[in-house]
Amino acid sequence: MERKAFLRTLGAGAAFALTFPSIQGCSKDGNGGENPVPEGVDFTIDLNSAEGANLQNNGDFILKNDVVVVKNLEGNFVAASQICSHQQTDQVRFIAENGGFFRCFTHGSEFDQNGTPLNTITSNPLKIFNTELNGNILRVFD
Ligand code: FES
Repeated sequence: MERKAFLRTLGAGAAFALTFPSIQGCSKDGNGGENPVPEGVDFTIDLNSAEGANLQNNGDFILKNDVVVVKNLEGNFVAASQICSHQQTDQVRFIAENGGFFRCFTHGSEFDQNGTPLNTITSNPLKIFNTELNGNILRVFD
């Protein structure tokens, strides 16, 4: 009788030990790579700073606060979420080809500079932020 009780206890404990990590595993898998799309974005970049030096040439871009800040091929500043609208990985980058567009390197979603999807991987638009240039200070904001 005592042995049965012991085995029952062990069984429940073992079941718990086996179940709990697998729940954690599923949760981790389900959220793996998912990041919130940046909200309340409002920052500046001094174009004369070391950071700004990386935005001197048309086609240059930098990553800051989960935003891809771009000097496009026409020399205008545009900014998009680095967090993809497909499955929220942070793999969106600017591609300085074919007029300039955004690509997420996770599954290959592409977006124009207005955030409109260019292929069928997702129909969700990419979040685009406002930019404003005052002298050498570039402001990026929601
Ligand atoms: S998460 Fe970007 S294309 Fe799938």
